[in-house]
Amino acid sequence: MPFRSILVTGGAGFIGSNFVRMVAREHPKTVITVLDALTYAGNLENIADLVDSGSVRFIKGDIREPAAVRVAMDNAEVVFNFAAETHVDRSIEEAASFIETDIQGTYNLLNFARELKVKRYVQISTDEVYGSSAGKDFDETSPLRPGNPYSASKCGGDLMCLAFANTYRLPLVITRSSNNFGPYQHVEKFIPLFITNAMEGKDLPLYGDGLHERDWIFVEDNCRAILAVAEKGNDGEVYNIAVGKSQPNLRVAELILKHVGKTNSRIVFIEDRKGHDRAYRLAAEKVRVLGWAPRTEFAPAMEETVRWYVDNRGWWERVKSGAFREYYEKQYKDKLAKGKTK
Ligand code: NAD
Ligand code: TYD
Repeated sequence: MPFRSILVTGGAGFIGSNFVRMVAREHPKTVITVLDALTYAGNLENIADLVDSGSVRFIKGDIREPAAVRVAMDNAEVVFNFAAETHVDRSIEEAASFIETDIQGTYNLLNFARELKVKRYVQISTDEVYGSSAGKDFDETSPLRPGNPYSASKCGGDLMCLAFANTYRLPLVITRSSNNFGPYQHVEKFIPLFITNAMEGKDLPLYGDGLHERDWIFVEDNCRAILAVAEKGNDGEVYNIAVGKSQPNLRVAELILKHVGKTNSRIVFIEDRKGHDRAYRLAAEKVRVLGWAPRTEFAPAMEETVRWYVDNRGWWERVKSGAFREYYEKQYKDKLAKGKTK
């Protein structure tokens, strides 16, 4: 990698920690600083070995606070912004923290990136900004039609980035990927929740008719795409990242149960998520022109992911205990009660 030093915000979260682990492994000369507020979603365990060995400098700090951003960005040649509030269900309950982190926090980062003249700023965004797709693949010029407060906040961050690229010529790129899965993903999200519930012998709460579709990408493939865009993307441009093989949630749930060795009777159809986006579909040819292509097939990657959760039971049991357990029970009690069919 041509980068001497990078700042990774949100590097203790799911994709951020996988990204940091990949860069540390494959580009040991790159100096890595992680800035992370360690919200409920952040987990220092995800990168503890790298911090302990000195491969990563960790700063606990909040992108909503300009002073923290200023300190962390010192000497960074390239900034990767993974820090965000990310869970759609939480954003439906309460969106203020999403607006603060995903928009205001992004603005703080952009301001200092400009002042400190970083070589490149990389905004990690999502396919959800285009909203639900009714059969059509969205490309990078498609209109933004967010379907929930999370994706609306991500739109705000993206638009501020594009404004900085245009107004101040800040050299930045935006990646918009489809749903990621893999090691270190928080248990509130669909795939880890279903794997760990299955392992605990609990029900798997499927929203609505279970036929909502997502185009799952293995986290390592997304991390490689982000690196490719950072190195070779054009200033001011957006790059969609996707595999192009959407599948219904029900099929994914059945595959998880098969790998965990449980029967489909554990699936419970519950009240649908409010405003639930039916499908996200991306046209992602632009990133392929940069030389990227996914290396991983869904089925073996899912098997590897299930194995990771089996081998790292302590990791997710700690995440799933305490505050999360309370949140989960409050959130799902009602909806589970409304579950009718198995
Ligand atoms: P995550 O929720 O697992 O991790 C987010 C990280 O950001 C956590 O470590 C958290 O502590 C940190 N953070 C949150 N608010 C912060 C703040 N104010 N200051 C500093 N740190 C803060 O999220 P993820 O799934 O790894 O997603 C990373 C990025 O990728 C997000 O921007 C998300 O929108 C985007 N994305 C995710 C997916 C997906 O499927 N997970 C798909 C497309 C895009
Ligand atoms: P999620 O992992 O929350 O990602 P996103 O909503 O950002 O795509 O959910 C993925 C899909 O799984 C989505 O269609 C909602 C569905 N889902 C369930 O059916 N049950 C659940 O308990 C969760 C968390 C998600």
